Amino acid sequence: MPQVERFPMSIPFGWYGVSYSSELEIGDVRDLHYFGRDLVLFRNEEGEAGLLDAYCPHLGAHLGKGGKVEGDSIRCPFHAWQFRPDGYCSKIPYAKAFPPRAKREPLTQAYPVVESSGVIWTWYHPDNVEPLFEVIDYPEFTDPAWAKPTRREWRFASNPQEIAENGVDVAHFAYVHAMDAVPEGETSYDGVKRRSIARGHRTVPVDGEMKQMPYSVETVQNGAGQKYTKLKGLVDLSLLVIATPIEGDDVELRFCFTHPAVESGSMQEMAVKMAIEHTCGQQGVEGDIPIWESKIHLAQPYLCDGDGPILRFRKYFEQFYAATAEKSALVEAAE
Ligand code: FES
Ligand SMILES: [Fe+2]
Repeated sequence: MPQVERFPMSIPFGWYGVSYSSELEIGDVRDLHYFGRDLVLFRNEEGEAGLLDAYCPHLGAHLGKGGKVEGDSIRCPFHAWQFRPDGYCSKIPYAKAFPPRAKREPLTQAYPVVESSGVIWTWYHPDNVEPLFEVIDYPEFTDPAWAKPTRREWRFASNPQEIAENGVDVAHFAYVHAMDAVPEGETSYDGVKRRSIARGHRTVPVDGEMKQMPYSVETVQNGAGQKYTKLKGLVDLSLLVIATPIEGDDVELRFCFTHPAVESGSMQEMAVKMAIEHTCGQQGVEGDIPIWESKIHLAQPYLCDGDGPILRFRKYFEQFYAATAEKSALVEAAE
């Protein structure tokens, strides 16, 4: 039997979270592996984060294994050449004449880096095309009047499109998440952004009585790697969903939650904790993970009328793949 290729698509381009800002102090060096590539992340003494190809362009040492920050650069452990976050070589301590090419152009691949919402985002494009859109900043994640973010993360065999598609797969909510009715929402597609807002009522116990509470769920998908969800109801909760490909079929998923600061031990604090557990646990993403890990992506699924706008979503998502033969297969299936 031929092996089934699980995913016909390549790694989409976009902004991807590779670390939280607070997890990279000045002088820190990390070896990372994302997008099928070995990388080195560091924060120089000027506070700037840099993400470079891991392998030194001189003789190939891994900068993330023993490299040290020096001034604005990272110093290679092998012959001490230094590289700035922009990929330029800043110093060769023993060269009598600095190579002219090293003055003119970066010697190594540097990835664009932006820090916002407390996350270090990097731009990935398989052909190294410069950023085609921007990360969205959500200031509540770094606002001292909001709670210190609660973070969760998972790693499993899937990809960003499969994860993102889950939100429009309305039929699965009843069967995977045991949720009754998914409220009708309004959706808009605007270039790389997809927005949705859904409003409904939930019956919740308030002071010993069951009450109907209005709630809303707002989402913004901004490319393949950044999604934002704002829940309003008994509690207000903001969630950043950060999906970052490690390989084409291996993904890291981070959830970062925050909410307006609440008193410790209060009802609101309990409600917030429950909402977070609900979003992460079996009724949330941990219900989906076993399915994501073993499913395949069908470019031509067999759908019925209750399935939700899956093909419209795929058409939107298709724009994040660099031109390949697979692209036309995905587009055709969605049309
Ligand atoms: S391999 Fe990095 S300086 Fe020689
Ligand atoms: Fe789900």
